[in-house]
Amino acid sequence: MYPKEMEKSIRKVEETRQERLKKLPERMTAKEREEILKKFHPDYRKGAKRKLKVGVSKGSILPNEVADLIEAYPLIHPDEIDLSQIDYETDILIIGGGGAGTAAALWAYYNGIKPENILIATKLRHGDANTMMAQGGIQAADKPNDSPAIHYLDVIGGGHYANKPELVARLVLDAPLIIKWHEDLGVMYDKKPDGEMITVHGGGTSRKRMHSAKDYTGMEIMRVLRDEARNIGITTLEFSPAIELITDEQGKVAGAVLFNMETEQYYVVKAKATIMATGGFGRLHIQGFPTTNHYGATADGLVMAYRAGAKLRDMDSVQYHPTGAAYPEQILGLLVTEKVRSLGGQPVNVDGEQFVHPLEPRDVEASAFIRECYERNKGVVTPTGMRGVWLDSPMIEMIHGKGTIERRLGAMFRMFQRFDIDMREEPILVFPTLHYQNGGIEIDKEARVLGKNGVIAGLFAAGEVEGGVHGKNRLMGNSLLDTQVFGRAAGINAAKYVKKAKIGKLTLKHVKKYIEELKKAKIKEERKSPVLLPDYRGEKAVARMIDIF
Ligand code: FUM
Repeated sequence: MYPKEMEKSIRKVEETRQERLKKLPERMTAKEREEILKKFHPDYRKGAKRKLKVGVSKGSILPNEVADLIEAYPLIHPDEIDLSQIDYETDILIIGGGGAGTAAALWAYYNGIKPENILIATKLRHGDANTMMAQGGIQAADKPNDSPAIHYLDVIGGGHYANKPELVARLVLDAPLIIKWHEDLGVMYDKKPDGEMITVHGGGTSRKRMHSAKDYTGMEIMRVLRDEARNIGITTLEFSPAIELITDEQGKVAGAVLFNMETEQYYVVKAKATIMATGGFGRLHIQGFPTTNHYGATADGLVMAYRAGAKLRDMDSVQYHPTGAAYPEQILGLLVTEKVRSLGGQPVNVDGEQFVHPLEPRDVEASAFIRECYERNKGVVTPTGMRGVWLDSPMIEMIHGKGTIERRLGAMFRMFQRFDIDMREEPILVFPTLHYQNGGIEIDKEARVLGKNGVIAGLFAAGEVEGGVHGKNRLMGNSLLDTQVFGRAAGINAAKYVKKAKIGKLTLKHVKKYIEELKKAKIKEERKSPVLLPDYRGEKAVARMIDIF
């Protein structure tokens, strides 16, 4: 139920609905897109980013919140860890128990590694990760009117041509086999009565290739992958985030130091190969934005891998999902899946007018929402003074028939219903929210992590922690796909690697070296990282909730 002051605007939305049903706004030209991004996208805000002062990617530009963590001191001094006391010894250590980590574990097993020689160490519970929260779907060009080549062009165009081509090629070429693998394992993708997969558009896609399990696709995938890992008997350590990588004397990555959050003890894991699958930085509330992200998305993997010499790329661009919930405040910033727009929900302003095509690429769509609210002053103002635009969800039922919202957007429907908002009858209020780390640590197509002098032996990465796949802007449905394609690549290649790998004496030399570099750059010892969990105490966190603009 909306307050009276918002209802007036809802009447206008209703009045324009029939007319809007007939025609969508034109998509923007490339020039228009560039202009709107420069003027309104948060990435272009002055003072929001800075150059890194230390490490292999010194000079590259990062959001301040991320640079703060990279330019920070370790949680514990290396001398405080006794590396001769090994708590776990394994072939493959996987840091992160989300979609990428679990896929990596399974593919390592399929490639000859015994389950007892694979160890997943995860910060929260197995599956407590952004994969679980992914709603809209997973892209794969597996229909006759589509092809990986067309998918490739969409990804590269959406990423502003900054993507690493060989990674995009792997992403799109492996996509159909991932869907097939999921199906074989039992993932329940949406299908027509004749068994054909239902696919829809996402922003910036030129074919309908989004496969989904209603609007909880990630949860469905995670359910099946986690079951599979458990059934196989892969060891998982929960509430045990890694806080530092371990290297051997030759600089090969050889495991990690874990922190048991329940007992507050440190554990040394010796591993022939380590796969970083820690996800992104979406809980850092970049520029004060609310977030769609899971509680654990605090950039830990970036911090650890960077100290071990991994290069960073495309870290200057951050993804703000256009449709975060903007009302009521209890769900501020939570994801309203792009699928609402794929199915016909239209963004409209306070007067019920269309102002942007519903399926522009995400960065462009988000910029158009910000322009509507803060330049044209055509946003809807909530009782506490926050702004948003309407997403006219009742159109979905006008287009696809009654019952569609409950059938295909059940999670969304219930999220709003809890606050007495019936999205079948009334529009929902949205505003951009922090969603994804577009860049990350650089990998090659075998998911090996790259440093200044090429591959860092023993270190692989998959999912949001790595960069290069999405360039400067990821398209919907390519993050789940990334976790699966590069999780698989990491699992397969780590399995190959460990068959020959030999590791020497364990050290934390790279951490000591990093501390020296921080000191040389005159960085004060006030910040420590990884932070492991976001901090919601203090004025900064409260101020953030009021108005980021
Ligand atoms: O809108 C969504 O459902 C989000 C999907 C994604 O980020 O891939």
